[in-house]
Amino acid sequence: MSERFELLNSWFECASVETVLSHFLQTYKGRIALATSYGAEDQVLTDMIVRINPSAKIFSLDTGRLAEETYMLMETTNRQYGIKIDVYFPDQAAVEKLYRIQGINGFRESVENRKTCCQVRKLEPLRRALEGLEVWITGLRRAQSPTRETMRLIEWDEANGLIKLNPLIEWSEEMVWDYIKTQKVPYNTLHDQGYPSIGCAPCTRAIREGEDLRAGRWWWENPEHKECGLHIKRN
Ligand code: ADX
Ligand code: SF4
Repeated sequence: MSERFELLNSWFECASVETVLSHFLQTYKGRIALATSYGAEDQVLTDMIVRINPSAKIFSLDTGRLAEETYMLMETTNRQYGIKIDVYFPDQAAVEKLYRIQGINGFRESVENRKTCCQVRKLEPLRRALEGLEVWITGLRRAQSPTRETMRLIEWDEANGLIKLNPLIEWSEEMVWDYIKTQKVPYNTLHDQGYPSIGCAPCTRAIREGEDLRAGRWWWENPEHKECGLHIKRN
């Protein structure tokens, strides 16, 4: 990591999440956005961001395969905060081609198929969502998975060519849920049914006691493959 990012990270080391968000939202006004999957962490960040600046950009990627509970939460969140979260959809021709090549649920047949589906339904829309931005904010936490242990509060996202800000990187699951309950933040009802991590409906299941938080994502694959590419480091 470059010296500039080392400095920034140590500068904000003891700052509260609200302080970090206020600083970045002010400094990069109009060139910063939160990416939300409507998971618990993203709902915490939405709540904090709306309090700081209700017109800050928040966007989500609708893969076309999300759970009904997630669509219900989209509505509730917009209504409760009086906002309209941007939604990016996959390219229609690319989805039709994907279907012709691998069928409707081809992602189960191989890791390669699954990555192609994520590419068409998530990564290409993400590229469009990030156009013109200098910072994207995510709800990543280090404790979510071994693949996230080395992530930092402020990082250079080489794959997308902009700064990635992970304000909850140090938070525990308990801190997330304390915030949700005390601030009455709306959340996905799937969390009450054993889903700590929620992605596309056919690629997410509930976890059993003692299982890893992300064990329910692409559960038929080896753990080292279990990232969709949104947060893969190139360097
Ligand atoms: S994923 O890479 O496995 O899908 P995960 O579900 O843990 O990621 O979410 C991590 C962060 O990625 C979220 O906090 C959010 O910032 C971003 N993210 C994931 N899925 C989406 C989505 N569908 N739309 C927008 N942002 C998303
Ligand atoms: Fe496709 Fe599953 Fe990736 Fe969603 S998570 S884009 S359905 S492979």
